[in-house]
Amino acid sequence: MAENITVPKGLADVIVDETAIASTDSDGNLIYRGYVAEELAEKSTFEQVAYLIVYGHLPDRGELREFTSFLNSHENVTGTRRIMRLLPKDVLTIDMLRTVVSLVPLAEKDNDRVLLEIAAKMPRIISDGYRLTRGMKPFGKIRGSYAEKFYHLLTGSVDKKDARLFEELLILYMEHEFNASTFALRVTASTLADPRAAVTAALAAIKGPLHGGANAEILGYLLSLKSKEEARKYVDRKLDKKELVMGFGHRIYKAKDPRAQYLKRRLKDLALEKGAGQLYEVAVAIEDEMWEKKNIPANMDFYAAICMYLLGIDGTFNTPIFAASRSFGWAAHYLEQVSGNKLIRPSSRYVGKTGLHV
Ligand code: SDX
Repeated sequence: MAENITVPKGLADVIVDETAIASTDSDGNLIYRGYVAEELAEKSTFEQVAYLIVYGHLPDRGELREFTSFLNSHENVTGTRRIMRLLPKDVLTIDMLRTVVSLVPLAEKDNDRVLLEIAAKMPRIISDGYRLTRGMKPFGKIRGSYAEKFYHLLTGSVDKKDARLFEELLILYMEHEFNASTFALRVTASTLADPRAAVTAALAAIKGPLHGGANAEILGYLLSLKSKEEARKYVDRKLDKKELVMGFGHRIYKAKDPRAQYLKRRLKDLALEKGAGQLYEVAVAIEDEMWEKKNIPANMDFYAAICMYLLGIDGTFNTPIFAASRSFGWAAHYLEQVSGNKLIRPSSRYVGKTGLHV
């Protein structure tokens, strides 16, 4: 029997495996396959970064054309509209997404193509599922890039400038090494369950408010605060009651989440343009108070939630958007896990009762 090792709760700071997909470097930058994620967000398209994350290098023109054509030709979900209509009218969009992904008919057979087919279908499942369960017609055929189509499916807008900011947000959401939903996917993949099962496990995990569910809760409190003073008082009240302020803190980023700071910079002009200067001020006041009182930084979800709100995206879509983009990161992790697989099955120290008899 191998010697057991005891590790901190939540596997905090425990390296459980190696990965070549993403990491944070010593300057606290998020790195995707060797590139700084913020640079990719600024200079690349969603399709280029999705290809990089899954296949490990930026695509040449031919690879990009084929990859884009694959996503376009696998996006439709007409085979699931009957199921969507059966779902309750008030079904949470993330629950609907997880349910439909677990059932959607898939044409592909090879792991990488199945994973990409599921990823390609997510924007349509999110939009059609939401609209059909609320008695609305789904959007018809839409043209444009992945991000332009996704933004249109969520808002009906064809504004290219807003769609580009949405694309940058999607790129920053795409991958983040062994976060909880990715680890849930890897545990499932390590049993050699199929890609759909592993993505469904990740979709279940991402819903939690400590993880992807946070971005759905942030606006609830943020929109109720009308001044910097109210913002500071809100934070102090929450901290006094030892309650969590959603959108803050991170297992890896103890000083700053580079993605949050990128979106904060991009948000400033958008807020003024949309007449939401006060919302931006309140957000910064919350961030400053959290740092001053607890040295806890804003995480990606904080500024992403504000960004999506200002882009006219309904809050019900926040976690599903995170999941749709992260599904390309999940694809890469599934393939990496099964390529050098060992079943993930830790031990535990038994602290229960012993010696009892029936
Ligand atoms: C995402 O892992 C990833 O990469 C995730 C993600 C990704 O891209 O996949 O980055 C996306 O999920 C971002 C996180 C979104 N979640 C939230 O915003 C929910 C609020 N945040 C907290 O639940 C918390 O910060 C975690 C869960 C994100 C991280 O928590 P840790 O690393 O387990 O740290 P901890 O809970 O032990 O906190 C340390 C201290 C505690 O205080 P003390 O008991 O030491 O006095 O900091 C406090 C915590 O109470 N604290 C907070 C806080 N976050 C931590 N206090 C108030 N509000 C917060 N948000």
